[in-house]
Amino acid sequence: MDLNLSLLAREATPGLLPGLNGLPRPTPPKVAKKPKKAVLFFEVEILDAKTREKLCFLDKVEPHATIAEIKNLFTKTHPQWYPARQSLRLDPKGKSLKDEDVLQKLPVGTTATLYFRDLGAQISWVTVFLTEYAGPLFIYLLFYFRVPFIYGHKYDFTSSRHTVVHLACICHSFHYIKRLLETLFVHRFSHGTMPLRNIFKNCTYYWGFAAWMAYYINHPLYTPPTYGAQQVKLALAIFVICQLGNFSIHMALRDLRPAGSKTRKIPYPTKNPFTWLFLLVSCPNYTYEVGSWIGFAIMTQCLPVALFSLVGFTQMTIWAKGKHRSYLKEFRDYPPLRMPIIPFLL
Ligand SMILES: NC(=O)c1ccc[n+]([C@@H]2O[C@H](COP(=O)([O-])OP(=O)(O)OC[C@H]3O[C@@H](n4cnc5c(N)ncnc54)[C@H](OP(=O)(O)O)[C@@H]3O)[C@@H](O)[C@H]2O)c1
Repeated sequence: MDLNLSLLAREATPGLLPGLNGLPRPTPPKVAKKPKKAVLFFEVEILDAKTREKLCFLDKVEPHATIAEIKNLFTKTHPQWYPARQSLRLDPKGKSLKDEDVLQKLPVGTTATLYFRDLGAQISWVTVFLTEYAGPLFIYLLFYFRVPFIYGHKYDFTSSRHTVVHLACICHSFHYIKRLLETLFVHRFSHGTMPLRNIFKNCTYYWGFAAWMAYYINHPLYTPPTYGAQQVKLALAIFVICQLGNFSIHMALRDLRPAGSKTRKIPYPTKNPFTWLFLLVSCPNYTYEVGSWIGFAIMTQCLPVALFSLVGFTQMTIWAKGKHRSYLKEFRDYPPLRMPIIPFLL
């Protein structure tokens, strides 16, 4: 019993124990213990979100690997699904994980299960926008110059006698040239690509409406607006103000994001008075865009233009509401006075 106790004591305080010569033994130098790593590697299994079939198993994935890196690893075994086509989720029906999400920060164990969905063939945003916007510009001019097979032979390459028709052509062309230039030189998109099928839908919308509007405005039997020059001047003022406003907002949004980054911040009014609409709405660029088309509709007094404005307004309201909701979710200090698109209303 005594022996056991002394053994225990030796183990507990080795530096104080006598050596063979009876003197206290020198304390042995402490060897620094290696800190234990919690988890060295993760295992990731990727299942098809629809069938739950196992598509891929990745072992030894670094804990700080991002979703973008996991997508690259997945592409190695399934080259037909390049990273931009992939949506990886934690839940088969949940939201797609962001490319910058880090594996060890996700609510998963050391064996993570991710669900894959194929987003379909992708096309770059820039290509989409250029195609969408170059179409209306070109199509409108075909009607303006009255190329053959549109209005009948006797009108081929003739010109309208109404000033408003020429003004409308300038405004329409200006609008789409501005959009093309903004796509190339102003916007800093966070998504590189979008599904290829969207381009067919979007082009049908933009090109179809452009042709419909242009057909009536440039028609040889077109009648100018009821209140003549006064109506045209007022409409032109609305159009110009809204174009300047739309451009100012795009510049303000661009300045929120350093080149090459995906940063999202709360946009605030700047010294430019056109940006002060940020005090009241989350997406003033949409407000100004709708305003431009209302101006164009008043100027031309043309039903297809009014319809295009209405459809555009409906679509942009849906997007503005979504963006507004995301701002509220993302930023706790989001200004409470703002509405999505129309001050105090909507
Ligand atoms: N007539 C029509 O039917 C119609 C319909 C839609 C759009 N448009 C026109 O096209 C323009 C662009 O449309 P959009 O839907 O792309 O506009 P948007 O979503 O407001 O985006 C404009 C640009 O700003 C960036 N951005 C937006 N909020 C940001 C934030 N909080 N922090 C940092 N960057 C931010 C966007 O980046 P992300 O890539 O991250 O979004 C994008 O590059 C509109 O303003 C409008 O003039 C017209």
